[in-house]
Amino acid sequence: MALASGLAADRTTASHALARYRSEFPIFRDRIYLNTCSLGALGERTRRKVAEFLDLWQSRGASAWYDVWWDALGELRGRYGRIVGALPSEIALAPSISVALSAVAESLDYMKRPRVIVTSLDFPTVAYQWLAKRARGVEVVVVESPDQVSVPVEAIARAVDERTALVATSHVYFTSGAIQDIAAVAAAAHAHGALCLIDAYQSVGQLPVDVKASDVDFLTAGGLKWLLGGTGIVFLYVRERLAQRLAPTVAGWFGHRDQFAFDPRVLAFHDDARRFELGTPALAAIYAQLGGLEYIEEIGVPAIRSVTAALTEDLIARAQGLGVRPKVAARAEQRSAIVMVPAPDPQAAVRHLADGGIIADARPGHVRLSPFFYNLQDDHGTALERLATHLRH
Ligand SMILES: Cc1ncc(COP(=O)(O)O)c(C=O)c1O
Repeated sequence: MALASGLAADRTTASHALARYRSEFPIFRDRIYLNTCSLGALGERTRRKVAEFLDLWQSRGASAWYDVWWDALGELRGRYGRIVGALPSEIALAPSISVALSAVAESLDYMKRPRVIVTSLDFPTVAYQWLAKRARGVEVVVVESPDQVSVPVEAIARAVDERTALVATSHVYFTSGAIQDIAAVAAAAHAHGALCLIDAYQSVGQLPVDVKASDVDFLTAGGLKWLLGGTGIVFLYVRERLAQRLAPTVAGWFGHRDQFAFDPRVLAFHDDARRFELGTPALAAIYAQLGGLEYIEEIGVPAIRSVTAALTEDLIARAQGLGVRPKVAARAEQRSAIVMVPAPDPQAAVRHLADGGIIADARPGHVRLSPFFYNLQDDHGTALERLATHLRH
C-alpha cells in the first residue's frame, strides 16, 4: 500500500511476535500510526463490540438494561480489576480521569492535612482538582523535575509531611515516557500517614501494573490510550478498606446502594468503590472498552511490554542514528513507549508527517512518537526519514 508520501506502509522486513494483530487495525492500510499515547488505534474487535451495543439499542431499547447492559458494567469492573490486580469491588467506572480524580478530591479531609503533592511532569488535570480547592485552604505543592524527564522519588519523599493528605502523581510521565517507581511513591506517602494516588493513564495496557504489590491507595486509567477502548471510559481503583470508609462530597445515584429506591431523603453509599460513581455511564464507551480489552487480555500485558520495549529501543536507536537526541529516560528499563523527538516547530513537523500519512503528535519543543504492539520497526524508519527531511529544511 502506497502512502501519500510515496512510501510503503506494509513492508515487513523486521517483524515481531505480535505483528499478526496489525491487520485487525485498518488505519495501517493507508497510514502509519505512531500516536497510541494520545488515542489507541481502533481495532476490528472494538468496532464489532460497539456495533453489538448499537444493535441492542435498536432492537431492544431500554429493556436491554436489565439483562445485558447492567451486567456489562459489572463485567467491565471485573476485567479492569484483573488488569491491575484489584477486586471488582475496588473498581469504580468514570467518564474521564478528571472526573475520577475529582471524586477522590471530594472525599479527603483537608482540615489537618491541607497539602497535596504533585509533580511538574504530571498531566495538569491532576493538579487542577486541588488548585480548584485553594479557596478552601488546600495547598498544592509541585515537586520540580531537574531534567524534564522524571522526578526523583527522594524529592517527592522530601515534600511529604504530617500535613500532607495525598501524593498524586503519574506512573508514566506523558511528556517523557519515563516510568515512575510507584511503590516507592506509595511508601513515601505512607511514611507520613498520607495517601497515594497514581494517574496510570499512560501505563495500564503497555506496562504491567499491580496495585497490591505497589501498595497504592488510588489508581486511575482507562480506555483512551493503551487499553484500546477510545474516549469516555476510565476506572478508579480504590483500596478496599478506604472505599468502605471515605464519603465523597460529590454524589450521584450510581453511588447509592439502593439506587432504585428513588428516595431523595436518603443517601446510602455502596460499601465498595462504586460509591465513587456518579451518573449513567456511556454504554457505547463501555462496549468499546470491552472490545479493546479483548486484545490486551488475549495477548497479555507482559507480552505487550516485551514487544513495545523492543520497538521503543529501536525507535530511539534509529533517531540517534539520524543525529537526533530524543528526550527519554536514561536507562531502558525506565523507558516506556513514548519517545520525544526535539523539533523547533513541532506543530509544523506533525503536519508534515500527516501529509505523508504518518500520525504523530506535537508537545512543546517535541514531536511525540508512541509505538504499540501493532507497529513495526519499518514504521519508525518511514516516520523518521520524513521527519528528518523536514528538520533539515
Ligand atoms: C497522563 C494523563 N492523565 C490524564 C489525561 C487526561 O484525562 P481526562 O481527559 O480523561 O480527564 C491525559 C491525556 O489525555 C494523560 O495523558
